Amino acid sequence: MHAPKDNQRRTLDRVLSKFGLGSRTEARSWIGAGRVTVNGKKIQTPDFWVDPENDRVALDGHPLTARQKQYLLLYKPKGYLTTYKDPEGRPTVYDLLGGVKDFVFPVGRLDQDTTGLLILTNDSTFGDHITSPQSKVPKTYLVKASVLLQEEQLDRLRQGIALDDGPTRPAVVKHIRDGAKYTFFEITITEGRNRQVRRMVEALGAKVLKLVRTGIAGIEIGPLEIGKYRNLSEEEVVALGGTVKKPSRSGRPQASRANPGEAPRRNGRLRSGADETRRRGRNG
Ligand code: URA
Repeated sequence: MHAPKDNQRRTLDRVLSKFGLGSRTEARSWIGAGRVTVNGKKIQTPDFWVDPENDRVALDGHPLTARQKQYLLLYKPKGYLTTYKDPEGRPTVYDLLGGVKDFVFPVGRLDQDTTGLLILTNDSTFGDHITSPQSKVPKTYLVKASVLLQEEQLDRLRQGIALDDGPTRPAVVKHIRDGAKYTFFEITITEGRNRQVRRMVEALGAKVLKLVRTGIAGIEIGPLEIGKYRNLSEEEVVALGGTVKKPSRSGRPQASRANPGEAPRRNGRLRSGADETRRRGRNG
């Protein structure tokens, strides 16, 4: 097996799944069945390391080449799950993506009752960068707490608070206002652990009554209606740590896509992000 030489490399099953062709389990079965080649050679090891930018991966002889990158910003409403498919049939963010033909996956997760800014993309390097705790990409939330919070309690959030999966990093906390019974504050964190903001507030003995993600690394929702999405601008993609490729003279770097035949589709989109979201289990 090739060892990874740089962080471009990914295992073959992951590369196939990230192309939106199917889940990693399905990709493993195609690899095992001898349907996949890398640089013309049949590979039957799902953990084989490939460089998706430079290695030629093909499924049933159809080369996978890079599709145009998609970067979407969705204003997620309450009640929608950040998952591909819900066994209980509850609405998911994919129900709001009519008109998006390429498969995109959510960059991190927002809880069902959290509203606000959710990025979806087919650029896995970009997505990994935003969700990785190492990247320290700041995510800002507006919180309505169930009680009036004292400044000392907000200080505990600022300093870092003990959670069952370890202390949180220091956070930037801005007291917005107190109502008769509730405190509203803004918090910026650089991790994005599962239900992190809710758990931080619970550690103070309070609950989160409302949670809105208002920004990621300075990118804001802007004048977008709730439940709608827009494309991120090139400047926004770059500000979030992505790279923008200029279209070639012959047109966009649009790609051919292998047709695996039985790759599952729903509403015209191909599947794989559900696995990805489950795998990460992170709020983004
Ligand atoms: N933190 C949470 O607790 N929930 C979210 O949805 C996002 C961040």
